[in-house]
Amino acid sequence: MIKTLLLLQSTTLLVSAVETAQTGQPLNLFNEPTYGVDVSFPIQHEKISTNYAWLPHNVDPSKPTPKEYEGMPIQYLGKRQEWYDEFMMGCHAHYGRKGDTYSACTITEQDRVEMSIRQPQSMQNYTELGFKKIKAPEEVWRRIKKFWDENKDRKNWSPESWPRGNTYTNHWQAPTYMVNVEDTKLRGAGSNLKQHVWDAAKTVISEWTGEELTECSMYGIRVYTEGSILATHVDRMPLVSSAILNVDQDVDEPWPIEVYAHDGKAYNVTMEPGEMVLYESHSVLHGRPFPLKGRFYANIFIHFEPTGHSLRHNAKEAAERAARGRNDRHASGGHEQEETGGLPSYIQVGSIEAERWYKSHPNAKKNKNVEATVGSTPAHRAAQEGDADQLGLVIDKLGHLLNSKDANGWTPLHEGARAGHVEVVKLLIDKGANINERTNEGKGETPLYWSIVENGEDHPVSQMLMELGGLNIGPDL
Ligand SMILES: *[C@@H]1O[C@H](CO)[C@@H](O)[C@H](O)[C@H]1NC(C)=O
Ligand SMILES: *[C@@H]1O[C@H](CO)[C@@H](O)[C@H](O)[C@H]1NC(C)=O
Repeated sequence: MIKTLLLLQSTTLLVSAVETAQTGQPLNLFNEPTYGVDVSFPIQHEKISTNYAWLPHNVDPSKPTPKEYEGMPIQYLGKRQEWYDEFMMGCHAHYGRKGDTYSACTITEQDRVEMSIRQPQSMQNYTELGFKKIKAPEEVWRRIKKFWDENKDRKNWSPESWPRGNTYTNHWQAPTYMVNVEDTKLRGAGSNLKQHVWDAAKTVISEWTGEELTECSMYGIRVYTEGSILATHVDRMPLVSSAILNVDQDVDEPWPIEVYAHDGKAYNVTMEPGEMVLYESHSVLHGRPFPLKGRFYANIFIHFEPTGHSLRHNAKEAAERAARGRNDRHASGGHEQEETGGLPSYIQVGSIEAERWYKSHPNAKKNKNVEATVGSTPAHRAAQEGDADQLGLVIDKLGHLLNSKDANGWTPLHEGARAGHVEVVKLLIDKGANINERTNEGKGETPLYWSIVENGEDHPVSQMLMELGGLNIGPDL
């Protein structure tokens, strides 16, 4: 009986594989029909592919591809663009749209797409495929589950506040909530819980990547609600080596996270409570482009940054040293970091992202020899140094310096935001600084962008800028 069942199953598998071969849809490593970017969601273009698999040129390879479809991936999932247009209409309706050219939603989308092109190709990866599903380490699961069980009552769900025009979730339609592990009003919350979870998760993730890690961020349990989607994206650095733990769910169908592995193919990964997906979140595109069918889905995200010390490398070198029979400790490491001026190890030398990193760390190569940028004013310097009193005096005397720009188009607000000085940023905004001024002749970054890059999204400066309508815009490349 069991044998027949198995046979039946494998026949079905075979049939579907043949069918797949007939339709020509590629398979991923798990033998599932798959596709590349821009099929389920706009990821590296602003539109989803409309190059449907059933179009004559896709069915019959002898037919030439019409010009409008050239370079477009084959669309196997039906009319996704129409669905995406509706998604964007929802955002516009919620946040408003000024004219045809300017819209906070469109700008967020452009930034997301641009980042999805730029970032992955510049990254150093540490694993073959880029993701892996495991059972959460016992200690992690026990602690998080306890915290959730004690606080899962709806009254403890705080609405998550998304910056204006944010399109990462369709929160205008399906709000997301946070059960914050730092909210001291909640039972068991606090830095103790956080540290224990970090420590326990660190071991498995570091074993997986072979890198020594340092903890970066862990906000709390995000609860998605019916109809939620999560736009496909890569995380901002330094969120590099990450884990998603599913805490609880009430769903009618499994709600997959779709990841693009290092082989460039899409994989749907489904989870049960207590399961954890490890992923290289800086280079692996990930999202949930298929709406949640069910009441809720609760996850916690745990992020780490590699310190630049490879465990594998060290182990290998140690073995080699032992084999050579000498204790040549100076042979390894150190110099490389100096030569690259402290460029984080997960950014490839010579990549576009490396160039950006040097731009944002102008002193990195100069070894602390701070050299002022041309056009930088006393207001810039006070803002950079966090000297709010001095800055106040300067602005009162020389009001025109409030929005003054240095040679790279940086305003004092950019300096203060990047350096994470709350008082400075508050003062500048109170005095009327342009919150969304962009560097580099209007083609560069906003102050919020720099604050998020340098200080993270939950830093008070980032939060303040977001609340006041700050947009997170990176440079146009
Ligand atoms: C993922 O799931 C969606 C929704 O069920 C499906 O349309 C899509 O083809 C799946 N993608 C992969 C790569 O399995
Ligand atoms: C890292 O992964 C990304 C995305 O999978 C890829 O584009 C990039 O080329 C990889 N980096 C290296 C050095 O192979």
